[in-house]
Amino acid sequence: MRRIEITDRNWDHLLSLRGGAGGFLDRSDPVQALYGPVAAAAGSFVLAQVGQSLDGRIATPAGDARDISGPDGLAHLHRCRALVDAVIVGVGTVKADDPRLSVRIVKGPDPVRVVIDCRSELTGSEGIFNDSGAPVIVIQSREARCRNLPNAEVIKLPLCDSGLDPDAILSALAERSLSRVLVEGGARTIARFIEAGRIDHLHVAISPIIIGSGPSGISLPPIEKLTAAKRPAAEVYSLGSDILFDCCLKPAGSDVKAGEKVRVTDLA
Ligand SMILES: NC(=O)c1ccc[n+]([C@@H]2O[C@H](COP(=O)([O-])OP(=O)(O)OC[C@H]3O[C@@H](n4cnc5c(N)ncnc54)[C@H](OP(=O)(O)O)[C@@H]3O)[C@@H](O)[C@H]2O)c1
Repeated sequence: MRRIEITDRNWDHLLSLRGGAGGFLDRSDPVQALYGPVAAAAGSFVLAQVGQSLDGRIATPAGDARDISGPDGLAHLHRCRALVDAVIVGVGTVKADDPRLSVRIVKGPDPVRVVIDCRSELTGSEGIFNDSGAPVIVIQSREARCRNLPNAEVIKLPLCDSGLDPDAILSALAERSLSRVLVEGGARTIARFIEAGRIDHLHVAISPIIIGSGPSGISLPPIEKLTAAKRPAAEVYSLGSDILFDCCLKPAGSDVKAGEKVRVTDLA
């Protein structure tokens, strides 16, 4: 298991890669191997992250999800937010948690906040519309009723069989120069992006807590045999308080190999 030790120096290096500085990405260094692909991505990169308990839960049945991750799992989430252009959550997460989706416990910029609210359930009174934080984009179906959502851009997309097409969502964000994206939850939102084959890496951070019941982090359509299960290539990292699985969901061979030094400008 590789250990993540963040210093001012290696974090500043990642932030400079995020900002477009050239240089080298050394995949033999655990910190660069874990965060480099998103920080240095020149084109589209979609990361999903789940913070879950030992028994695979992301909240209690009543929806309490705030302290599942330990302090280092939480710092990891904030690092992921700081390295992307936009963070996406589903309307269920906004209704349950009223999250700020900002970068608070590490140094770095706040991502644009994107909420998938297909049926226009948000009222405009939620915190993200009224906290003077990073810009907010709400993605709705063309048929959804119009509401006054303060300080937000509303993007209307056509409905397809499974709701709003993740490809169309990512294209709309890319048109606004938001190409590095973190899909932060909840389970149904992440599942839609996985089913559409649009997640490059999935981070599952496991904290030593047993909740016993409650929703799981990823809920995909049922399979009968384990032979049909997804078995992504994964690197395992110790964050400190939490253990992280960094799963590559892209086709084999499209990622940079561990130990390989690549010029960041060649990664596009
Ligand atoms: N521990 C963690 O890492 C973490 C992170 C985030 C959230 N959470 C927890 O997760 C829970 C919320 O998860 P959730 O799965 O219930 O809600 P969610 O994924 O936040 O939101 C689900 C809602 O968004 C809609 N939606 C998502 N993607 C869509 C798409 N592509 N097209 C159309 N509609 C789309 C869903 O529509 P449908 O009804 O049609 O499916 C549903 O109404 C909360 O308890 C929250 O605390 C935990």
